Amino acid sequence: METVGTELRDHLKRASDQIQAQHRRLEPLFEDLSGVLEGGSSRDAQTAAFRLDGAVKAHFLLEEEVVFPAIRGLRPEHQVELELLAGDHGSLSQGLQTVIDQILKGQLDLAAGSLESCRLAMKDHEHREEAFLGGLDSAESERTL
Ligand SMILES: [Fe+2]
Ligand SMILES: [Fe+2]
Repeated sequence: METVGTELRDHLKRASDQIQAQHRRLEPLFEDLSGVLEGGSSRDAQTAAFRLDGAVKAHFLLEEEVVFPAIRGLRPEHQVELELLAGDHGSLSQGLQTVIDQILKGQLDLAAGSLESCRLAMKDHEHREEAFLGGLDSAESERTL
């Protein structure tokens, strides 16, 4: 049993580390777009916005298709937390789509405000996600002692 417990703990730890690393890699993409919206061209803003949107979509896909199902399989009692986190992805994606739509219309000032709201909402989501994953890790450690 100890081996199984150790494997589960290692699996959760790796998933948690991978997600945290991706969160850190999203930050400069938000900053790039924010900088471009302050003084760059509409074309540069489109490029930065599509780059950010693609990275966020890939991150959400990893969580929804790989990490969350793995946690659900190992720890089914956390179904509700996982559903809430996955539910955030819809509103965050919609927020980014609003930024893109405003950029495509040339409304760069509006897009800058929408991006800041989106960035804060993403930060809040990431903090809750990392706290949840960190809690799983320590709960799993206690369980296997
Ligand atoms: Fe997430
Ligand atoms: Fe995430």
